[in-house]
Amino acid sequence: MIMYKIAFHNKVEIPQLGLGTWQITDKPQMADVIRAALSLGYRLIDTAAAYCNEMAIAKAIGANEVKREELFISDKVWNTSRGFADVQKACRKSLKKLKVDYLDMYLIHWPASMKLYPNWIEINADTWKGMEQLYRDGLVKSIGVCNFKVHHLQELMKSAEILPMINQIEMHPGMNQTEVLNYCNANGIKVEASSPLGNGQILKNEKLIEISKKKGKSAAQICLRWGIQKGVIVIPKTTNIERLEENINIFDFVLDLNEMEMIDNIPYCGGIGIDSDEVVEFG
Ligand code: A2P
Repeated sequence: MIMYKIAFHNKVEIPQLGLGTWQITDKPQMADVIRAALSLGYRLIDTAAAYCNEMAIAKAIGANEVKREELFISDKVWNTSRGFADVQKACRKSLKKLKVDYLDMYLIHWPASMKLYPNWIEINADTWKGMEQLYRDGLVKSIGVCNFKVHHLQELMKSAEILPMINQIEMHPGMNQTEVLNYCNANGIKVEASSPLGNGQILKNEKLIEISKKKGKSAAQICLRWGIQKGVIVIPKTTNIERLEENINIFDFVLDLNEMEMIDNIPYCGGIGIDSDEVVEFG
């Protein structure tokens, strides 16, 4: 199985395709999905404290023979654990739940929103200090953020001593994220696309279907390949074993410039619709 990798600015490498686990909480189902994913060649597993599935992932990984150093485990700190001290506590809690002694990547799940917090800049900066400490302590091999817009990144980078390695954002055909993608590319921050299939909603788009027929690939494979050629990391979520296989078989074809442009021009569609500046605390 071919798997592309992307190197962060600290030289840590991440597989360009991984398994998203949002909404997979059932332990037997997680065990089936992870067993199949590992045997198909997936190595990146994306979770978050808020997904409430870290223990299910630990159990599933423990039942397989893939070595820890071959896996790339990515986790996220939830909004209720912001700040220098709390983020470090939260990370240690997640490490215990996942039964690992380090994470390959740890991310801030959401920026503090300006709607709720007049001091959002200070809160994000303080949380980032905690992330840097975890990195220096060797508990996490790389650190980053999620759902940060350009202004969130600009403010964070004013006080950061270690620049974020990655920004995970919702991105898929129908939601190109051009502004933040360009900013990240210009500043050495890799982008990871969450919901790279537009939560399944984009798959009926007629342009995608047209390209899919021409290439002999599914609409989902076209979406993922588009993400790969945009240089982003894609983490599709599925609990269906056939789709798991379909989603990783995207390294044997190339979209030409015309096809990429057709996909780039798909009008807005399939977004979850959460604005990082508006997000009200939940959970
Ligand atoms: P399921 O878990 O039943 O396979 P995203 O990763 O963009 O959030 O999209 C996830 C949604 O897309 C889920 O509803 C998932 O459903 C569905 N999905 C995942 N892979 C495929 C695929 N290859 N073809 C069609 N739907 C898919």
